[in-house]
Amino acid sequence: PRITLRQLLDHAAENNYAVPAFNINNMEQALAIMAAASECSAPVILQASRGARAYANDIMLRHIIDAVTEIYPQIPVCMHLDHGNEFKTCQSAMDSGFTSVMMDGSLLADGKTPADWDYNVGVTRSVVEEAHRRGISVEGELGVLGSLETGGGEQEDGHGAEGVLSHDQLLTDPDEALKFVAATKVDALAVAMGTSHGAYKFTKKPDGSVLAMHVIEAIHRKLPNTHLVMHGSSSVPQELQDIINAHGGDIKPTWGVPVEEIQRGIKFGVRKVNIDTDCRLAMTGQIRKVFFTNPAEFDPRKYLKPAMDAVTKLCKQRFEEFGTAGHA
Ligand code: G3H
Ligand code: 13P
Ligand code: NA
Ligand code: ZN
Repeated sequence: PRITLRQLLDHAAENNYAVPAFNINNMEQALAIMAAASECSAPVILQASRGARAYANDIMLRHIIDAVTEIYPQIPVCMHLDHGNEFKTCQSAMDSGFTSVMMDGSLLADGKTPADWDYNVGVTRSVVEEAHRRGISVEGELGVLGSLETGGGEQEDGHGAEGVLSHDQLLTDPDEALKFVAATKVDALAVAMGTSHGAYKFTKKPDGSVLAMHVIEAIHRKLPNTHLVMHGSSSVPQELQDIINAHGGDIKPTWGVPVEEIQRGIKFGVRKVNIDTDCRLAMTGQIRKVFFTNPAEFDPRKYLKPAMDAVTKLCKQRFEEFGTAGHA
């Protein structure tokens, strides 16, 4: 069945596990993730970004969720909007069958300019009022996601579009988190502690100076009953990089978030773990492999099926590692 984020994460908190939130854009990703959830008997969060909604169409996404919940009736599925950028984006997701929305008011509606406190609280609070009236959950975000190595910039060029951010902006303050949750009534809170989106998170295996898990512990001490969300939580496994690079790809040396760091977070209130990049790497590796080893192949099923199988394998691993397995 389709359930809300609040229902899913309350159960996770009671039982000390986290639920991975995997991004979907198409049927193949949805089917591959659900096959893993089914094999592990795990609840799951499928999330769609604004880009995914533009790519696939809201009507298609709604029917994909209807289809997978019909195929796997025993698996609880939350359909979540990833990084809603303004009220109306969240509202249209609610109209399209999403059971949870993220209002990311840490940035202005352009999705890149850091927002101030009053803007974030105001827009998040208004989304919560609308969503809760409709029985829908809300994730908010406090603190700007971004690399402590580069001051929030892309690894490639060393600085972001809006300039270098301070550690104050890149690390969520525990006292502010307490005030933010009280003021907005969000169901889950995304926090910033040094992760960033995409494959290029860290230039070497991260230590506490660039992946600030102690911030999560401090927030959890102030907010023991709030469900915390880790964004940018792909682990960027070396073996997935290697498959791509062995078949004509060009992934530069990089590190993601080690699974054991996420497991540490789960001991301190992390209940939702966002993963997109790892699934992208898994799919692309297998598609490259088919194209590279058999250039005569042109049946899409011949490369999409191995791609789906690789996503299923990755997702099963995460369900086991995060303790989600067995909780459906
Ligand atoms: O927030 C980042 C997610 O990985 C979604 O990415 O906006 O390219 O769909 P996207
Ligand atoms: P990754 O790029 O690490 O997979 O993060 C995805 C994410 O946070 C989506 O909101
Ligand atoms: Na999200
Ligand atoms: Zn994110």
